Amino acid sequence: KSISLDITKATQFLSEGAVKAYESQVAAAQEALENGTCPGNDFLGWLHLPSSITPEFIAELQSVANTLREKCEVVVVAGIGGSYLGARAVIEALGNSFAWLVQDKKNPTVVFAGNNIGEDYLAELTDYLKDKKFGVINISKSGTTTETALAFRLLKKQCENQRGKEEAKDVIVAITDAHKGAARAAATKEGYKTFVIPDNVGGRFSVLTPVGLLPIAVAGFDIKALVGGAADMEKATGKDVPFAENPAAIYAAVRNALYAEAGKKIEILVNFQPKLHYMSEWWKQLYGESEGKDGKGIFPAACDFTTDLHSMGQWIQEGERSIFETVISIETPEKTLFFPHDEENLDGLNFLAGKRVDEVNKMAELGTRLAHVDGGVPNIRVSVPQLNEYYLGQIIYFFEIACGISGNLLAVNPFNQPGVEAYKKNMFALLNKPGYEAESAAIQKRLAE
Ligand code: PA5
Repeated sequence: KSISLDITKATQFLSEGAVKAYESQVAAAQEALENGTCPGNDFLGWLHLPSSITPEFIAELQSVANTLREKCEVVVVAGIGGSYLGARAVIEALGNSFAWLVQDKKNPTVVFAGNNIGEDYLAELTDYLKDKKFGVINISKSGTTTETALAFRLLKKQCENQRGKEEAKDVIVAITDAHKGAARAAATKEGYKTFVIPDNVGGRFSVLTPVGLLPIAVAGFDIKALVGGAADMEKATGKDVPFAENPAAIYAAVRNALYAEAGKKIEILVNFQPKLHYMSEWWKQLYGESEGKDGKGIFPAACDFTTDLHSMGQWIQEGERSIFETVISIETPEKTLFFPHDEENLDGLNFLAGKRVDEVNKMAELGTRLAHVDGGVPNIRVSVPQLNEYYLGQIIYFFEIACGISGNLLAVNPFNQPGVEAYKKNMFALLNKPGYEAESAAIQKRLAE
């Protein structure tokens, strides 16, 4: 079984043949990705990553994960952007929704830091950790990201204070560049276990490197199955797969047709399972950072339904017609729960009694799709058999390869992110970072005007 795509409710908004018209461009994009002749070709290490991960490497990751699992009640994963969202997406999708409250834990609690500069967040984290045996996975490709470095400073000190320097060494792992950056320097000096983020894999494409795999294994999930799902999707979306049978080619073509021909500037990724919230956050980064440049790009937004039907539903149904929706639909839930019968039937809902809760959810999904299509919102449906490691691996690779193709169709370099530097430059100038004297003077002058 595999994830599958339904584009019929999107193509009705397009002229006949609009999707097929992309066939040759998609083929050229796939050829260019494969041959390394596209823009950003020094960042194509993710393309055949799933099929190149060896059982030995999985075993090494699992063994380090097991050490952290044995020695820690809590593991803090410090990272931001591509060094954060993939791990969180998978862990939250697979974990118990109330994981932090579950007694008799079989797995350490995984929490995240280094993804903001919130003083309260960090102070509350520090407080939460003060009576815990905790470890840290410090993830930064550049090794210089301020948010992550700040969290790591705090966590390293606290871990050493609570466990002693020697023991702390065994529960701090660094995932970073092979040679460069502060995270590498600290790991070498302190003797931490390290994993390398390959040079040719950019942050937002790195979930299937140790960046995602180690935290996911620590949380107790099957990374072999995750990589297996991704490897199967790598085959299913290869450049020799015919256009009509390649879901990533079709998804890339449809969204570009909706953008270019139908003027749909915003894509809303929708789920009907709250556990997928962070998959959407990961997807938003993947597409936003890859395509939003040169004055172009679909704006990637996300909603959790049915929750957001009671907040954003009005806008989606009747607001400006510049949007389309992509729904991730999980065919079968992992648990079973029936709508209860009630003698008094005060809420009048006994007509639902005895139905699976998911049956009600599926009708909400279908009803919503039809309503939104009637309201002028094209709809793509990605159907996923089950929410498990294997299919999450498929989803991850599906969106990555579709993004690589889509960025090429849009004629941007999907693998750089020059725009991210602008805020950093201003922040460092405002904070008088050494080396930023000219920028500091310029920004102070601008503020005084
Ligand atoms: O996708 C990207 O490249 C970014 O989101 C980075 O992952 C993010 O800025 C974190 O960078 P680093 O891993 O160097 O700390």
